[in-house]
Amino acid sequence: MAKSTMDQDLLRVLYSEEQIRTRVQELGDELFEAFRDKNPLFVGVLKGCFLFMADLVRACQIKSEVEFIAVSSYGNGYESSGNVQITRDLQYDITGRDLIVVEDILDSGNTLYFLAQYFKTKGARSVTIVTLLDKPERREKPIKADYIGFTAPNEFVVGYGLDFKQQYRNVPYIGVMKPEIYENDD
Ligand code: IMP
Ligand code: MG
Repeated sequence: MAKSTMDQDLLRVLYSEEQIRTRVQELGDELFEAFRDKNPLFVGVLKGCFLFMADLVRACQIKSEVEFIAVSSYGNGYESSGNVQITRDLQYDITGRDLIVVEDILDSGNTLYFLAQYFKTKGARSVTIVTLLDKPERREKPIKADYIGFTAPNEFVVGYGLDFKQQYRNVPYIGVMKPEIYENDD
């Protein structure tokens, strides 16, 4: 294993690199069958999606395009505020397109509820949501993902793109953060 100055802040590994790799390939295969004739547009929700998106599009070898949107919704380091703002908008016209929206985690649902409506308003023909992690217990908005990597427990997790205050995104697995790290934070 590579050296790390971050492992010590994590309580335990929730999903290993191997588990993630296997599951991402399964999702890629499912999307392949569902979208093989549709020329979909993958839309990653930055920044959390960046590793998942990179692996998912390679696991799904169909003719497609890749786009990103960036949003911010965080009130503090670990909970969404419900006030979702687009900080980097789409650069493509999505009218009539079949979108595959790629998110790191579906938590309160505020972000994806907002984005699903936004994409419909912009004329998308269909909006399919793929999330690596789903925390259904925390849902505040009526929104479901069409494809889910793992249904996660109600704990704060980092790694494989997921952050705490912009850090830990480069941890190669998904780990549970030690609560004292974020609870002692302002
Ligand atoms: P939602 O709007 O509450 O559904 O939250 C979606 C966003 O919150 C995700 O894209 C993540 O960036 C962030 N988030 C939610 N739970 C976690 C977590 O356990 N770790 C890191 N980020 C999280
Ligand atoms: Mg995110």
